Amino acid sequence: MSAQLAENIDWVGYVDWNVRDFHSFDTFRGATYNSYLIRDTKTAVIDAVKAPYSSQLLQNIAEKTALEKIDYVVCNHAEPDHAGGLAALLTALPNAVLLCNKKCLESLAGYFDISRWKIQIITPDDKIPLGKFSLQFINTPMVHWPESMFTYIPEEQILFSMDAFGQHLATSERFDDQYDLSVIMQEAKAYYANIVTPYSKQVQRTLEAASSLPVRMIAPSHGLIWRKNIGRIVEAYKDWAGGKYVPKVLIVFDSMWDSTAALAQGVLDGAMSESDEVDVQLMHVRKTSMTRIAAEMLDAAAVALGSATLNMQMMPQMGGLLTYLSGLKFAPKKAAAFGSYGWAQAGVILLEKWIEETGWTKAADSVSSQFRPKPEDIEKAREAGKLLSRAALAGVVSK
Ligand code: FEO
Repeated sequence: MSAQLAENIDWVGYVDWNVRDFHSFDTFRGATYNSYLIRDTKTAVIDAVKAPYSSQLLQNIAEKTALEKIDYVVCNHAEPDHAGGLAALLTALPNAVLLCNKKCLESLAGYFDISRWKIQIITPDDKIPLGKFSLQFINTPMVHWPESMFTYIPEEQILFSMDAFGQHLATSERFDDQYDLSVIMQEAKAYYANIVTPYSKQVQRTLEAASSLPVRMIAPSHGLIWRKNIGRIVEAYKDWAGGKYVPKVLIVFDSMWDSTAALAQGVLDGAMSESDEVDVQLMHVRKTSMTRIAAEMLDAAAVALGSATLNMQMMPQMGGLLTYLSGLKFAPKKAAAFGSYGWAQAGVILLEKWIEETGWTKAADSVSSQFRPKPEDIEKAREAGKLLSRAALAGVVSK
C-alpha cells in the first residue's frame, strides 16, 4: 500500500489495523506508523515504523526504488513506534546515512547498537539538498520527547510533523479529505489529550516557530495526512495547547453497590436541568477507557469525581485514573467530589484532597451518603450538578 503526497513523495508506512493497546492508549480504531519516501537525485526516507513491521516498510520502499539507492533516513523522533524499525532499515539500506539531531542520537544509542550506523548530526541551520527537493529541520523539543523534530520540504511546502497533529486511526485512506473529518478530529483530540497535553507550553512555542512556514500539507507519523483541513487542525492545537474550555460537565465515577452511581445520576440530572448549552457527560471509570475519559476531559470546564469507599481508600480504578490525570496536567477545572460509604468515609475525602492538590477550583460542596443515598442526598447531588453546570458556562475562558 502506498499513496502519493506529491510527485516522487510517497507514503510507505504500515497500517496496524488490530492494535488495541498502545502503551495503555486505547487504540480502538487501530493505528498507523507513517513513513515517507522522497525520490530525487538523492533519495530519503523520513521515519521508520515499529520494529515488527520493518519488513513491510522495506517492501513498500522496494516497490518504488532499489534499496541501495536510499541515501538518507531521517529520524524525527526516537520513540520505538517510529525508530524501532531503524535497525532493520539501516541494515537493509547499504548506502543510507541516518540524519538526526544530537538529542535523538543519545536516545537511539540507548536503544540500539549504533556502532555500524552511518550517522550525520543535523541542526536547524542545515539544509540537505536532494536535487529538486531539499530537507530542512525544525527542533520541537518536548513535543513530546527531548529530540522531537519536524522535517520540512520547502519546494513542496510539506511539513513532516512526527507525532504532532497525528491520530491513532487505521484506514485505507491516507488524506484528511478522504475520510470522515469528525472522526479524524475526535482521534486527533484523543491523541493530543493523552500524549501531548503535558507539553502544551512547548506546543505553543512550536506553533509559533512553525507559523512562518508556508505549509500546504502536514504529514504526521500517525493517521491521516492533512492537506484540506490544515487550518482546522492548527486552530484546534492552539485551543488545546491554550487550555481552552468548552461548556461541558464531565462526571466520572466508580461505585460498589450503586449508591455512588445514584449520586452520579443526581449530579447528571442537576447539570442537565440547569442549561441546554452545557454538554453533560457521565462515565463509569470501569466501563470507559481512561483514553476516552482523558479525551473528553481535555476541554471540559467542569468535572465531578465520584467514588465509593473501599478499604478506607477510593475505588482502585478511580485512583488509577487520578494518577493518570496528574501526569496529563490538564488546564484547571471547576470541580466537585461525591461518593457513598458504609461505616467510615474515605473516598470523597481523598477525591477532595486530590482536587485541591491538583489546583482545581471547588465549584460545589462535596456530596456523600452513608449506604443508600436518601432523597436529601440526591437533592444535594442535583444541586452540585447545577452549580457545576453554571461554573462550566462561566468558565469558558482560557487558563
Ligand atoms: Fe508516535 Fe511519540 O511516538
